[in-house]
Amino acid sequence: MRVLVTGSSGCIGAWTVKQLLDRGFDVLCYDQEADLSRLGLISGHVGSKQLEVQTGAIEDTTRVKALVKDGGVTHILHLAAVLMPFCQAQPVQGGLIDVIGTLNVFEAARDAGRAVRVVYASSSAVWGPEDAYGDRPLSEKDSPLPGTHYGVFKQANEGNARIFYTANSISSIGLRPWTVYGVGRDRGLTADPTLAMKAVALGVPFQIRVSGHMDLQYVEDVAETFVRCVLSDVAGAHVFNLVGSIVEMNALAGLLEKHRPGVAARLITVSGPQVPVSYKMDGSALHAAVPGIPQTPLEDGIRQTLDRFDRLRAEGRLAPLA
Ligand SMILES: NC(=O)c1ccc[n+]([C@@H]2O[C@H](COP(=O)([O-])OP(=O)(O)OC[C@H]3O[C@@H](n4cnc5c(N)ncnc54)[C@H](O)[C@@H]3O)[C@@H](O)[C@H]2O)c1
Repeated sequence: MRVLVTGSSGCIGAWTVKQLLDRGFDVLCYDQEADLSRLGLISGHVGSKQLEVQTGAIEDTTRVKALVKDGGVTHILHLAAVLMPFCQAQPVQGGLIDVIGTLNVFEAARDAGRAVRVVYASSSAVWGPEDAYGDRPLSEKDSPLPGTHYGVFKQANEGNARIFYTANSISSIGLRPWTVYGVGRDRGLTADPTLAMKAVALGVPFQIRVSGHMDLQYVEDVAETFVRCVLSDVAGAHVFNLVGSIVEMNALAGLLEKHRPGVAARLITVSGPQVPVSYKMDGSALHAAVPGIPQTPLEDGIRQTLDRFDRLRAEGRLAPLA
């Protein structure tokens, strides 16, 4: 068994690679950035003999197909993508990376000459804004109504995954996270809850630049969920909502103050638009399909994240806020 992780240098990628190496698997990393700094922040795995790192673009069809075929890959965790702000600003480049890149992964699985299972990151951005649906949790049976190019790209990937199953019998699971938080989360529109936690650890002021409610999902749970899905033998092309803890941004600032009294209230403010994505989702289908999906309570995830940031600061390894 050999697992290819694309987007391995990123936040979810680093945690996923950590958890695969913790379990003793061989991991092939592929990312445009040769950056193992996030993995280094959360584990001692950098330099492991079971870790091979290749640098390149996910939209490079020839390279991705060769990696899978010649690299003995049996499982793919596909996380490489550019996030919502990039895709809004540069839809052509965003589409090449997020849509063509995902087609490359599936075509590589198809042409590998062995069975290859694919688990990929979709996104809750396939949902439109709250008022498009009414006040109810959305299940996988509801129709996506994405309000951004990024959401449309993720919806297209879900459709292409379905066709790769019906046409080529490639089993896959697409997971739809909302806001992932934890050490290593530093990019994208929804990184601010984590950046606020980092600011508290650093003792510097920070404004959370989005308001309203979000569904916050602890990165360790999210990585464990990706790993459990890729190790499962569920056949077919599935897409699942990922559900964590819904919290309003001022309430989040209040929780930070509860964990670091007298610090967070002084440093953290909230002001900005609401993310135009419905945040009420039904996550039961994933739990029914794949056993052991973790769900760390929000307060525990915040405490673990603040503690990790504090330890890194004490060791002189916590970079300033960009
Ligand atoms: N973080 C979240 O809250 C969240 C929510 C929903 C969905 N997702 C999805 O989860 C996945 C991982 O997100 P993340 O938070 O770890 O993001 P991230 O930005 O931290 O990591 C993405 C990684 O993809 C790599 N990448 C970007 N363009 C590439 C290219 N052209 N070729 C090769 N590699 C490239 C980047 O270098 C980066 O290391 C993405 O598919 C994202 O759309 C994330």
